Amino acid sequence: MALKPSGLQTKVILLFAVTVISVVTISTFIAMILTGPLVEEEVYRRALAQARLIAHALVNERAFDDPQALMRGLRQIENDLPSVKQADVFLHNPEHHLLATTDSSAEHLELDHISNISTYNEYENLPSEDAITIETPDGDFWIMGVTILKQGNPIGCLMLKVSKSHSGDVTRNLVLQNLVVLLASLGVVALVIHIFFLRSVRAPMKEMVRVMEAAESGELSVRARVASPDETGQLATHLNRMLARIENFNAELARQVEGATAELARRNEELRRINEELFDTQRKLARSERLAVAGQLAASLAHEIGTPLNSISGHVQLLARRPTGDEVADRRLRIIESQIDNIVRSVKQLLAWTRKFELQMGPVNLPRLVEESVLLSSPSLEHRHIKVKTEIDRNFPDIVADGGYLQQVFLNLINNSMDAMPRGGELRLRLRHPAEGDPREVSIEVEDTGEGIAPETLAHIFEPMFTTKRMGTGAGLGLAICDQIVRQHGGVIRATSRIKQGTVFTIVLPLDCSEKSETPPAVTIASPSVVS
Ligand SMILES: Nc1ncnc2c1ncn2[C@@H]1O[C@H](COP(=O)(O)OP(=O)(O)O)[C@@H](O)[C@H]1O
Ligand SMILES: [Mg+2]
Repeated sequence: MALKPSGLQTKVILLFAVTVISVVTISTFIAMILTGPLVEEEVYRRALAQARLIAHALVNERAFDDPQALMRGLRQIENDLPSVKQADVFLHNPEHHLLATTDSSAEHLELDHISNISTYNEYENLPSEDAITIETPDGDFWIMGVTILKQGNPIGCLMLKVSKSHSGDVTRNLVLQNLVVLLASLGVVALVIHIFFLRSVRAPMKEMVRVMEAAESGELSVRARVASPDETGQLATHLNRMLARIENFNAELARQVEGATAELARRNEELRRINEELFDTQRKLARSERLAVAGQLAASLAHEIGTPLNSISGHVQLLARRPTGDEVADRRLRIIESQIDNIVRSVKQLLAWTRKFELQMGPVNLPRLVEESVLLSSPSLEHRHIKVKTEIDRNFPDIVADGGYLQQVFLNLINNSMDAMPRGGELRLRLRHPAEGDPREVSIEVEDTGEGIAPETLAHIFEPMFTTKRMGTGAGLGLAICDQIVRQHGGVIRATSRIKQGTVFTIVLPLDCSEKSETPPAVTIASPSVVS
């Protein structure tokens, strides 16, 4: 995993490094100050101890009597103690006669103020800081002297010039070693911190960042793995808890929105239904208003026109029975008579429609009723070359209805079909049970292959006095009467049509029409009639 300059881990390592390096630098400095004199003392003591040993060795090996052996001994000192720069041996006599020296070119180490043995003895026990020191361009030196004793008697003196800088070198080496160890430790600690960060901080952080990113993109079910119970683990636990709360909150919100939407849809649907009902009611109201007006009109027509018409008709009939001999007059009389008949018929139709029908309910064999209707229409059907096809479901049941009125419906529908097929065609009659899947109902379909009805016309065909036929041939009441009769039976009649292809009228009736039959009106005016 690469370290990012801005990463927490890098910052911690840098902080650690800066702190440690500062501490190490300061401690090294302090160590140098503190260790310097100690090392100096140690080097001094060691040089002195070594000098003593050699002084004794010189006596034991009788080197004191042999100048060459003495020189070897001195060289030995130089070799063993790198800090010793010069070693001189003096005889113990008042002249302090120089016996041997490692550096004959140098000034003798004999010191003016060391004049007797007792002084040497004192001198031997001086601490390093009180030792005699000389400062030269080559560095600072201690001058130390050791009494050479033979059988307890002083026979000479060994003088040493010991470099002080050697103790500095030792101190520096020590500090340097320390520094190297510390730096190595620093590297190890940095590595340990790195590994610690990887496992204890970066991995959990990465996991949490992953979870947060997922949550940000809408995936709220995601949860962080809790790897340890430490602070990062607690952080992950809290994050998980927070996510769970957000998820619950979201779900609750979604539920509420869903509920509100469903409620809104329900209200909308209710509103639509109410609107539809209102529209339907308005339509029915308009229709019944129109029916009421038409009814009143028809009633007053019957009253206003009927009576004089009766009288005219009577007189015309009388005239017609007695031919005048004038052929033109007789022919005109016959025309008048037939036109009066037409008027009477129209008035009767109007009256027939305005009234509600008093239904006489009883068992009706619909297949037979349909067959009879076809039979009644057969002269016209044959005349127009119309073929009739009847299809009846097996076990078609008898229904409870008013057969007379239902026949009027069938005859009206057959009449219309014949009008729609002036050049012949096919009339199909289908009796179905159950009707449209409901066993409590039957259906009767009257289909023709005639001219069809345009969609804009289809919406009006059941309205009273709506006709597309020319004056005198259609009063526009046939389907209005059919509709009224069927509705009084508790059924429905509807039409579907395709222009130039034909029309299907479907009547759906309950098996027992008496159950749903509408109450007939108080006043009845005329008997059922078949209209054009
Ligand atoms: N089978 C049919 N095919 C085509 N049009 C029809 C058919 N039945 C009815 N119609 C249309 O419906 C109108 C209304 O019919 P109806 O109420 O019987 O009155 P009318 O027959 O006196 O016109 C007709 O004028 C005609 O336009
Ligand atoms: Mg008609």
